[in-house]
Amino acid sequence: MRTAPARLASAYVTTVRLTPTDNAVSFDTDALVVGVHTGPDGLLPAPGAEGLDQALGGRLAATLESVGAKGKQGEISKIPTFGALTAPLLVVVGLGDAPAGGYDAEVLRRAAGTAVRALAGTGRVALALPAASAEHAGAAALGGLLGAYSFTRYRTVGEQSSPVSELAVLSDAEGAQAAIERATTLAESVSLVRDLVNTPPSDLWPARFAEIAEQVGTEAGLSVEVLDEKALKEGGYGGIVAVGQGSANPPRLVRLSYSHPEATKKLAYVGKGITFDSGGLSLKPTASMDWMKSDMGGAGAVFGALLAIARLGLKVNAVGYLCLAENMPSGTAQRPSDVFTSFAGKTVEVLDTDAEGRLVLIDGIARAGQDDPDVIVDVATLTGAQIVALGWRTAGVMGNDDDLRAEIVATAGEQGEAAWPMPLPDELRKGLDSPVADIANLHPERFGGMLTAAIFLREFVPDGVRWAHIDMAGPAFNKGEAHGYTPKGGTGAITRTLVGLAERHAGEPAR
Ligand code: BES
Ligand code: MN
Ligand code: ZN
Repeated sequence: MRTAPARLASAYVTTVRLTPTDNAVSFDTDALVVGVHTGPDGLLPAPGAEGLDQALGGRLAATLESVGAKGKQGEISKIPTFGALTAPLLVVVGLGDAPAGGYDAEVLRRAAGTAVRALAGTGRVALALPAASAEHAGAAALGGLLGAYSFTRYRTVGEQSSPVSELAVLSDAEGAQAAIERATTLAESVSLVRDLVNTPPSDLWPARFAEIAEQVGTEAGLSVEVLDEKALKEGGYGGIVAVGQGSANPPRLVRLSYSHPEATKKLAYVGKGITFDSGGLSLKPTASMDWMKSDMGGAGAVFGALLAIARLGLKVNAVGYLCLAENMPSGTAQRPSDVFTSFAGKTVEVLDTDAEGRLVLIDGIARAGQDDPDVIVDVATLTGAQIVALGWRTAGVMGNDDDLRAEIVATAGEQGEAAWPMPLPDELRKGLDSPVADIANLHPERFGGMLTAAIFLREFVPDGVRWAHIDMAGPAFNKGEAHGYTPKGGTGAITRTLVGLAERHAGEPAR
C-alpha cells in the first residue's frame, strides 16, 4: 500500500506587497535590495536607489567600489547600513550596463531572483529595483518570488523552510498591483511544477499525480477528468497503455479544462508525464537515469499553466492533457519490436522502449483533436538530442505551422524563457518507416534526434490543426548551480510560456 506524502508543496514564500518608492529609506524590512550599473566612469546606482544614496551621504557608489563591486549582472554586494536606513542590510545587485532604452524585464527578474537567493534566512526582503512601469514591478516580484523557492520537504537537518518570509516591491507605477498579483499567480504555478519535478518518483507516480491534478485543479476552477488504466485500454489509448504496462504503478490520462464565456479561441496543451523514465527494457545507463524523475516536466508545465489560466480568469478556452506513465522494465513491460495501435488508429512498432515520450504524446495529441482546438501545443522532455543541439537552457520549438512556431518563440522570449525555432526536414520522415507497422518509434540515424521525434509526433496531429511541439529536455531540470531566479533541480520551465500564449489568445497585452 502506497502512502501519499502529507503535503506536496514545500514551504513557499507567501506574500508580496506593493509600497511606494519614497518609502525606501524608512521601510521596515530586514534587507533592502537596489540595483547598480556599470557606468563609463564607475558605478551608477540604478533608479530606485536614489533616496538611499542620499541617506547614505551620497557614498553608495564609493562604498560599493571599495568592496569590489563592478555592477555586473549576477553580482551581489551586501552593505550594512549602520542606522542610515531602517533596513539593517542593503543588498546591491548588478544590472550590467545602463540600458539605452527601457529595462529588459528579464534582467530585472534575474536580478531580483539573484538578490533573494543571496538572502537565505533573512526574513523580510524589499525590492527597490527600477520599477517605473507595471511590467517592471511585476518582473521584480516574479523574479523575487521564484528566487525564494526552495525544496526542503525531505530534509531533516538544516534549512527546512523558505528562506524569505515576506517580499515587498517598491513601485509607484500605475497598474503595479495587478502586475504583482499576476506575478504571484505565476510564481505559485511555477513553484508547484518545481515541487512536482523535484518530488522523488517513490512519492509521485501516475495515479498520485492525477490525484493532485484533480484536487488542486478542481479548487482552481478547472473541470478534471481522469482515465485510469482500464479506461485507457477500453478507450484505445495504445501508446499510454504500452508505456505504462511495465510498471506496478499503472498509467493515467488527465484532462483539465477551462472555459470563459467570452472566449473566442480554444487552446489544447498536451504534456509528457513520465513520472520516472528508466528507459524500460531498453534500459538507460545509471548516469542518465538518476534525474529521470524530471521526465514529467512537460505535464507539470501544462498543469501549472492551466491552473494559472483559471486563476487569472483569462478570456480563452483551454484544455490540458497530462499523459502520465512510469516507464519500467519488467515481465509485463513492452518489448522492442512490439506493435500497438494508437488512439489515432495508426499502428506503431516500438524499436526502442526508451523513446517512450512520443508514444504517450501521440495519444494525447490525437485525443486533443476531439476538443476541436484552434491550436495544439505539446510540451515534453523528449530528447537528449535537444540538449546536444541547444544546450541546457534553450528549448526547441517545432511544428506544422511557421506562424505558430514563431509566436511561441516570441512568447517565450517575452516571458524570459529561452526557446528557438527548429525545422522538420521532410527527408527525415522516411527513416521512420517500419517493415511491419504504419510507423516505427525510432529513426536509424541518431543525428537530428530532436527533429525526428517531432516528425514522428506530426504524423498523429489531427488533419487541419495547427500544432507546435516544445522539446525542453534540458530546460526542465537544472543539474548545475542555481542562477538568477532558477534553482537547482526542477525549474518549472515553459509554464510561463504556455500562460503567455493563452494571454495572447485571450487578447491581453504582452507583458
Ligand atoms: N526522457 C528522455 C529524454 C531526456 C534526456 C530528457 C535527457 C531529459 C534529459 C527520453 O525519453 C529518451 O530517453 N529519449 C531518447 C530517445 C532515443 C531512444 C531515440 C534519447 O534522447 O536518447
Ligand atoms: Mn526515454
Ligand atoms: Zn522520457
